[in-house]
Amino acid sequence: MSAYKIIDHTYDVVVVGAGGAGLRATMGMGQAGFRTACITKVFPTRSHTVAAQGGIGAALGNMADDNWKWHMYDTVKGSDWLGDQDAIEYMCREAVPAVHELEHFGVPFSRTPEGKIYQRPFGGHMSNYGEKPVQRACAAADRTGHAILHTLYQQCLKHSCQFFVEYFALDLIMDEDGSCRGVMAWNLDDGTLHRFRAHQVVLATGGYGRAYFSCTSAHTCTGDGHGLVARAGLPLQDMEFVQFHPTGIYGSGCLITEGARGEGGYLTNSAGERFMERYAPTAKDLASRDVVSRAMTVEIREGRGVGKENDHIFLHLEHLGAETLDLRLPGISETAKIFAGVDVTREPIPVLPTVHYNMGGIPTNIHGEVLRPTEADPDATVPGLMAIGEAACVSVHGANRLGTNSLLDIVVFGRAAAVRTAETLKPASAHKSLPKGAGEQAVARFDRLRNANGSLSTSEIRLSMQKTMQNDAAVFRTSKTLAEGVEKMNEVAASLSQIKINDRSMVWNSDLVEALELENLMDCAQTTIVSAEARHESRGAHAHEDYPERDDTTWLKHTLAWVENGKVRLDYRPVHTYTLTDEVEYIKPQKRVY
Ligand code: FUM
Repeated sequence: MSAYKIIDHTYDVVVVGAGGAGLRATMGMGQAGFRTACITKVFPTRSHTVAAQGGIGAALGNMADDNWKWHMYDTVKGSDWLGDQDAIEYMCREAVPAVHELEHFGVPFSRTPEGKIYQRPFGGHMSNYGEKPVQRACAAADRTGHAILHTLYQQCLKHSCQFFVEYFALDLIMDEDGSCRGVMAWNLDDGTLHRFRAHQVVLATGGYGRAYFSCTSAHTCTGDGHGLVARAGLPLQDMEFVQFHPTGIYGSGCLITEGARGEGGYLTNSAGERFMERYAPTAKDLASRDVVSRAMTVEIREGRGVGKENDHIFLHLEHLGAETLDLRLPGISETAKIFAGVDVTREPIPVLPTVHYNMGGIPTNIHGEVLRPTEADPDATVPGLMAIGEAACVSVHGANRLGTNSLLDIVVFGRAAAVRTAETLKPASAHKSLPKGAGEQAVARFDRLRNANGSLSTSEIRLSMQKTMQNDAAVFRTSKTLAEGVEKMNEVAASLSQIKINDRSMVWNSDLVEALELENLMDCAQTTIVSAEARHESRGAHAHEDYPERDDTTWLKHTLAWVENGKVRLDYRPVHTYTLTDEVEYIKPQKRVY
């Protein structure tokens, strides 16, 4: 086959990625008796879930009346009606038991004086179908993701799941019949290559924030699962919908949780005005993220930004008092000090909308099964392949995700993947023999890249990609910026053929890791900008200035994007305009006001 020695492994299930989604799936698979491997490029508790701050959404009703149907309504409205309502019903209904389950696993949630899980308000979460903000975000201070990730890792160890840490997934092993049979990986620590055979491969590789120049995402968020899927000839869905979080720290992009506004923080412009009252009279600073990010951008564009260059906005927390800040927001108090030099008890934090989350991703159904949509069956699935968490597009977030629904998504659909696998597969079932030459293509690609000897460094190509995305696929988009962006991005993608790898070693070769990550990011960036250019309407996070209205007649549909020979091909599939059960009715599209 090749000069590389391949080490073979056989498991029932292989999960790729060890963030909250990957760990919840791994744990559930182990619990169901499957021989489960989790392969991850970073140590599990360093996965990006660790950075999630403000809370996990569930209508527990611990602080005031709440109802999962109100949560569902808010999520559909937040999604600007692009979300699939059967999936949204499933997620919001399952939220309550999912949080109780986390509590029993040992997540150290903050508590009310009566000992219940503490809940805070968050953007777009309202009571009684949009009446007024509700306290729905179940929080562990402002380190909720950290608490959940560590707890889930302990649970995985309890169920004897096996971890392959600092293994980089190279490519899926696909059979001629279209099913997925495993995954190839590179062990960064000793340089060996590995062929993992599995009945079920679960991609839980997170988002691709690093396709942009400034984001709240960790450097590891490089769309690795998206790249695996795109190279397997499968489509990505709704990639044009990229969320900007209103409060990234100006300059560094570090996240200041929306929970800060949930606890009573507010935004001001250069006139000291609480401008959100003009844009969202009811929810104000707790409107959904796309609304707040656009309002901030308009304030800055119209000359009302703060600072020497009038190019950012202030977030005030001073009035909350040191005691509340210390109890509820200790993490961001420290982050503001380190990254903005600000003492939050005395001064406002300089903030700016910053890339935070990808609503689009690998299309799946509510069981986590990856879709290969066809004309005849837009919900057809790929046997043996699942995707969950930010890597996936179920679609529960549609065109705009509500804060706290990401931690919810990872635990609900991580669990769903394990439940489905237990329904469809018996532990220790016999494996068919692998297709001839399984993994050879992956090794050949790895070898080509490792020996690439062009004229451009990975960082040069990556910077061109990130600058193009930052400038041309921003909070506001126009036909002109998008058309220019597509052209530039096609050129940048083509420049990958000119890449130069300086380090040829097989062990801890960060030059090669970054190049592999860049190939994955490039698929994400290209599909994002091409999908955005094609969508001639404004919906959720896709704010198109030449098409400022939502157009449900033409555009109430999911975008599908394939990467073929360095170019992107698009098609569409219908949004699910039905619910999962008769307990709730389909929520018809309405004007979206907060
Ligand atoms: O603002 C935050 O704490 C982020 C939460 C989220 O993205 O769900």
